Order: sequence, then C-alpha cells, then structure tokens
Amino acid sequence: MTQTWDPQEYEKNGAFVRELAGEVLEWLAAKPGERILDLGCGDGQLSKRIAAGGVQVQGVDASPEMVAAACLRGIAAEQAIAEALPFPDATFDAVFSNAALHWVRGQHAMMREVQRVLKPGGRFVAEMGGHGNIAAIRVALMAILTRHGHGNEEDGVNCYPTPEGYQRSLEKHGFKVQRMALIPRPTQLPAGGMAGWLRTFRRGVFEGLPAELRETVVAETVALLAPALRDEAGNWVADYVRLRFVATT
Ligand code: BEZ
Repeated sequence: MTQTWDPQEYEKNGAFVRELAGEVLEWLAAKPGERILDLGCGDGQLSKRIAAGGVQVQGVDASPEMVAAACLRGIAAEQAIAEALPFPDATFDAVFSNAALHWVRGQHAMMREVQRVLKPGGRFVAEMGGHGNIAAIRVALMAILTRHGHGNEEDGVNCYPTPEGYQRSLEKHGFKVQRMALIPRPTQLPAGGMAGWLRTFRRGVFEGLPAELRETVVAETVALLAPALRDEAGNWVADYVRLRFVATT
C-alpha cells in the first residue's frame, strides 16, 4: 500500500505529532545560520518553527499535497523520496526528521543519502516509531482485515526498529550514534478518536479496500480496541513508542 495524506484531515487528527516534538527539537539544538533539511516535512509547521530560530530550512516530503501545504507556509519544500534526495553532497549541517522515517521503505538507501547530503561532522537527528509502536492498534486492525479477507494490507506498512538494530544500521552507514532512546509515549487522541486516527494514518490501507468495506473495518477495529485504549469518559490513547536519536557523520 502507498500512504496518502490529506493536509486538512492531518491537521484535525494529527496536530499532536508536531505539538509533541519539543524534545526531539531540543536534541536537534539548531543554531542560527545553520542549513537544515527537514526530511518528511509534512505540512511544514515544524519546519517553520525551526526556521524561526534563524535557521535556513529546506523541506522534503514524498506527498505532493503536503509539499504544497508546506510551500504555502513559506517553506522551501520539494517533493522527493528519502532514498533519492535531490541535493548535492555535503549540503546540510543537520538532517532532522519527526514521525516520518518509519514510512521509508528503503532504510539503507535513506541512510546512505542522509550521510551523503550532510557536511563532514554534520548531525542526523530524528524521532520515529520504535519497536512496539502502536502494537495494539496494528494487531486489532490486522485481525479485522483478516476477518474480511484482506489480512496482508497492514503488513510492512511501517518499520519500527529496536534501538540496537537501528544503531547497527546507522553505524554500517558510517554514522556515530551519540544518543539514542526508546520512549513509550501513550498519546491522547483529539476529538476524532480512534476512527479519526485510522482514517488519517491508515488512509493508504483503506484506499486498498473495496469502498463498501471501509467503514465496517473502521467500526469493528474501533470496537475491538475500545476496552484497551478508550477510558470511561470516552477519551482515546494511542500506544505510541518513540525511537529518538542523534548520530553524526
Ligand atoms: C507514528 O508516528 O508512530 C505513526 C504515525 C503514523 C502511523 C503510524 C505510526
């Protein structure tokens, strides 16, 4: 499946992604005058926050809709995949990424590209889904998809590596890992709840289903998850786990 994004739907159901980015921004510690690539910049709101510190931010995202939204915010953003970055060698002081790397199919090609576009001594600072991320959501969605004969649709949608495995991969590509942490971060969802989350973050999965089945799968997955992830007041929490790291070239 290929994930697709609707910037308005993302704003409604996914604003918490940028609101919770404070710690990875602290790890980035951007300095005025630096040139930083925001890899998977989405709608550019976080890029704008980084740029506000006097940083030259370049955004890149695989989604044309998100790139258009970032450009409207005044961010220099280009459509490209992380495995083939359209920039010369040694362009950036840092490559930053929040909640995007788990979508990248070619992790090794991406690491090679990040290493290539960073200046010597440059840093790769990112937060992504880590091992165990959204485990309950994935198991519930897979169970319901299997019941309807579409069990493979959720396979391999994202990668959620362990710190040990990701550190090994980064080192294979010449990075020195300075800091890395796996952080459970149960995350309260906005008013759209789990149905809104599924429709936004599994949009590609649902687009792969017959149209008449989509809302049935949403409703049955929500019902299966409710005892685990919804409280008595009706608030939903998603079982997020973050992998955050700083690596240098
Ligand atoms: C995450 O940030 O962990 C995530 C985002 C979208 C879908 C699944 C996980």
